[in-house]
Amino acid sequence: MNDGLGNPKNTKSLLLAHKTPPSMGLGVRSDAEAAVRAGIRHIQFAVRPEADAVAIDEYLKSLKPIPSPRLVKGKLSRSANRGREVFESAGCASCHSGELYTDQKKHDLGIGKWLDEGKSYDTPTLIEVWRTAPYLYDGRAASIEDMLKKHNVDDKHGKTSNLTNKQIEDLAEFVLSL
Ligand code: HEC
Repeated sequence: MNDGLGNPKNTKSLLLAHKTPPSMGLGVRSDAEAAVRAGIRHIQFAVRPEADAVAIDEYLKSLKPIPSPRLVKGKLSRSANRGREVFESAGCASCHSGELYTDQKKHDLGIGKWLDEGKSYDTPTLIEVWRTAPYLYDGRAASIEDMLKKHNVDDKHGKTSNLTNKQIEDLAEFVLSL
């Protein structure tokens, strides 16, 4: 509803939210603490004691990533290892950088439709992306392959147009192993 009737959004995972400011798809809250308090006030229309917000923060901070079921004995599979190289060469790591795979900055990937045209989105962490399909702000991509093949306009979301199907598969395997 925040974004206008008929303009729904993909629910973001709250995992690592407190470690990857800013918050919200558009990065409109400076950090997760601000987002928790804004949610109580502007989504629930409630007035609650600060202790409740602190308790929610503590709960969210306690969430730990679950290792991907695609790992083989806790390590990247062969395909995922090849995919890691593609991740570097396709420029994914320029935005999905560091330990949590995010530069914590906003980018316009050229995929905004209707009211969202031209908007920049906060780079999400890729940790646990294996359990958070569908992808992109409005959930238009059912899979990583779908996202990279059908929804990457002018290679703005990494240089993928020159990749073979096999390379895309390996890249997806890597991302889904994080
Ligand atoms: C220019 C910066 C940038 C580059 C380069 C980039 N990404 Fe992203 N990525 C983003 C942003 C911003 C989003 C959020 C888009 C949205 O919500 O619509 C995103 C979203 C994603 C998502 C979806 C996460 C989710 O939870 O919905 C995945 C997966 C992903 N990127 C993987 C990749 C891969 C693989 C590459 C390399 C081919 C790549 N990205 C290159 C900025 C980038």
